Amino acid sequence: MADNNPPPEENQIVESSTTKDDTSLETIVRRFQESMSDSKTHKFWETQPVGQFKDIGDTSLPEGPIEPATPLSEVKQDPYNLPSVYEWTTCDMASDDICSEVYNLLRSNYVEDDENMFRFNYSKEFLSGVPARIRVRDEVVKMAEINFLCVHKKLRSKRLAPVMIKEVTRRVHLENIWQAAYTAGVVLPTPITTCQYWHRSLNPKKLIDVGFSRLGARMTMSRTIKLYKLPEALVTPGFRKMELLDVPAVTRLLRNYLSQFGVATDFDENDVEHWLLPREDVVDSYLVESPETHDVTDFCSFYTLPSTILGNPNYTTLKAAYSYYNVATQTSFLQLMNDALIVSKQKGFDVFNALDVMHNESFLKELKFGPGDGQLHYYLYNYRLRSALKPSELGLVLL
Ligand SMILES: CC(C)(COP(=O)(O)OP(=O)(O)OC[C@H]1O[C@@H](n2cnc3c(N)ncnc32)[C@H](O)[C@@H]1OP(=O)(O)O)[C@@H](O)C(=O)NCCC(=O)NCCS
Repeated sequence: MADNNPPPEENQIVESSTTKDDTSLETIVRRFQESMSDSKTHKFWETQPVGQFKDIGDTSLPEGPIEPATPLSEVKQDPYNLPSVYEWTTCDMASDDICSEVYNLLRSNYVEDDENMFRFNYSKEFLSGVPARIRVRDEVVKMAEINFLCVHKKLRSKRLAPVMIKEVTRRVHLENIWQAAYTAGVVLPTPITTCQYWHRSLNPKKLIDVGFSRLGARMTMSRTIKLYKLPEALVTPGFRKMELLDVPAVTRLLRNYLSQFGVATDFDENDVEHWLLPREDVVDSYLVESPETHDVTDFCSFYTLPSTILGNPNYTTLKAAYSYYNVATQTSFLQLMNDALIVSKQKGFDVFNALDVMHNESFLKELKFGPGDGQLHYYLYNYRLRSALKPSELGLVLL
């Protein structure tokens, strides 16, 4: 999952009316739980083949799969038991009705920010799964990318999530896949890296009006609008939307760029077509084609993930772009990403979000991104890394 937390402040702050009373019991309990999260027991995760907290720092443990693959005939053939009134359904996402049901479950129950002001509203196009190949150091590993874990609000805290995780694991095993990658805002055993979201205001007035950001101290609205104003016109000659015929060139650029990171997606041309070819309201990809040589030299992309704005009389949707994969070889990274901001502004996005993964740190501050307060932890299932990575060593963005 991505992050749905507003940035803590916009150039230092006036207190928002939505901030909960710091002394409420709920807040105190939540803070206590957060402070305990590393040391608290994980009754479920302690039983799973994942890096365990007790093993942190033990470099004698080998890197690689924690449990070996087993013959498929030894994989449990029947589903895990559910409480009696429930049953498993395999969702046929090609069916409009089923896809709508899943979409609506998520629209009403999926990830919210800490203050329950925003809830992710992934579009239907995102709701399918395809296997991925992820390279860990020198090994390319087939993995399931796990996303959209969601229990209806009325069924929370009943230990349904562990059953769902075990069942999805069983089904993935039956596909002869033994590893998975996933992200979460919560700390579980054990992150391979912990990243931070950064937010670049494109429509500061709306962001402030809906409580996503706050007017900085000694800032007026008009100064804030001026601060975030972007040029109307793109800067880089040859900057254009990616097309189908660009797939081979983009794949080459990406493979070359991603090879330097410790853990990264292993893209082939089919993956690039699936994940990165522009699709309206899903993913936008742009590249720089040299006006002289017609070589594709640079690439940038972002995906569309709106959030429902909860309980605001004037606005219902926050339109957010999330930085995806970016590669600069001839254009400066700063200028490339500035052009990405300009197109996302032209397309009506309110905010452009980016993680501090890959080389993103090099443009964040200069392009006026502010740090968010939520963290995103990355995990591998059944694969141990000897030591954690820095965010800048990670070449993987999960939707
Ligand atoms: C995440 C969610 C499915 C967990 O369900 P729940 O009813 O809160 O929790 P349950 O009682 O069923 O299960 C608790 C176990 O699930 C684990 N768990 C909770 N959130 C998890 C997550 N995001 N990923 C993996 N495991 C998670 C807990 O750590 C706990 O296991 P532990 O005892 O080993 O620590 C539910 O809270 C939800 O739908 N939240 C909104 C959507 C969301 O945040 N999805 C996750 C996106 S990463």
